[in-house]
Amino acid sequence: MSSTQASREDWIAAPGSPLRGELQVPGDKSISHRAIMLAALAEGSSRIDGFLEGEDTRATARVFAQMGVRIETPDPQRRIVHGVGLHGLQAPAGVLDCGNSGTGMRLLAGLLAGQRFDSVLVGDASLSQRPMRRVTGPLARMGAVVETAAGDRPPLRINGNKKLQAVDYELEIASAQVKSALLLAGIYADGETCVREPRPTRDYTERMLAAFGWPVDFAPGVARVTGGGRLVATDVQVPADFSSAAFFLVAASVVPGSELCLRRVGMNPRRTGLLQALRAMGADIREDNRSEQGGEPVADLHVRHAPLHGIEVPEALVPDMIDEFPALFVAAACASGRTVVRGAAELRVKESDRIATMAAGLRTLGIRVDEQPDGAVIEGGRLRGGEVDAHGDHRIAMSFAVAAQVADGDVRVNDVANVATSFPGFETLADSIGFGLRAG
Ligand code: S3P
Repeated sequence: MSSTQASREDWIAAPGSPLRGELQVPGDKSISHRAIMLAALAEGSSRIDGFLEGEDTRATARVFAQMGVRIETPDPQRRIVHGVGLHGLQAPAGVLDCGNSGTGMRLLAGLLAGQRFDSVLVGDASLSQRPMRRVTGPLARMGAVVETAAGDRPPLRINGNKKLQAVDYELEIASAQVKSALLLAGIYADGETCVREPRPTRDYTERMLAAFGWPVDFAPGVARVTGGGRLVATDVQVPADFSSAAFFLVAASVVPGSELCLRRVGMNPRRTGLLQALRAMGADIREDNRSEQGGEPVADLHVRHAPLHGIEVPEALVPDMIDEFPALFVAAACASGRTVVRGAAELRVKESDRIATMAAGLRTLGIRVDEQPDGAVIEGGRLRGGEVDAHGDHRIAMSFAVAAQVADGDVRVNDVANVATSFPGFETLADSIGFGLRAG
């Protein structure tokens, strides 16, 4: 079991004042994980600025330190990674603990399958319940040998010293984590690995491989790499995480009198599906100062309160907002009319079953939710106070903190400690712009 198991914490959340001010949310989680991984395997030293000081990404950095990579932290949100080259990792003395992070574990599974040593990946209670066959299945096709616990769950025991063969693989589910695991195994394989997706997913692994000098051929829905190259150290500038900004976009939309500016948010189109959904619901969100930061589009987002109405969320948008459904459910609960979510069965295997946990909590707060196997139908209404359980899921916890800002009474949100996995300092930032939120 993981040594990074969070102790339980709860919140009491209640309406505060209208949300006002300017803020910058922490660095992107997906990019921070990948920056550590590729910098560790590169030749030379890379500087990462804007690194997310979350438990998930710090766990990934610790894993590489256990394999002999020197990583300095000259300042918070900055890392200097002294890369060891593609074949320079050392066999770790003990198990490698990914904490709560599915991204960490799945990407590492691909990367470690190509090493000359054995390794074991473990995670916390939530990660230990998450499905791993989606990565171990395709990796086996490449010649990797990865054993799982019963039910294809972690720990993952990865046998090293296997000669990997390139594959042409068509994914059954749209998953950037699985795609990335195959690409990272692919850089150690003989020949060209091609990954095709049923719907395009975030392309940070592809972009970052290219930034570290590895030829990669990619377009939405397909990516190709050929084994046998080298990664060259580079500096990475991590933009603010759209998924963290999402809670404030919804909060300012639903709390009357609110007006917020979110600075320099990552605007990769594979991440910003929520923006389209919220605008279709009537949200007032304006972008300006569009620019590029470390090869990623960024913009300032200005959001003002606006009355929302329910929509049918287009299924094509689902991968582009896969982490934003807890926040979207809250927007739907505050909207007039009905919101329909379909084609999102993946939500059931995230840090919690996000359809079930959101449906249960919203019902407690007086909202009608009809749970479906692959989504939900949510009838907007008035939220009342009550006690809800985040089930240790960071995004559920923050979503209920947002919901509480328009509730008729106090909302007790249980089991919120894992907010630190992706959004350290959420409470302080939320408090600074007018949230009613305290430890419970
Ligand atoms: C991630 C991909 C997504 C997302 C997760 C981060 C990534 O998972 O939910 O939070 O960094 O690649 P899937 O690719 O499994 O959908």
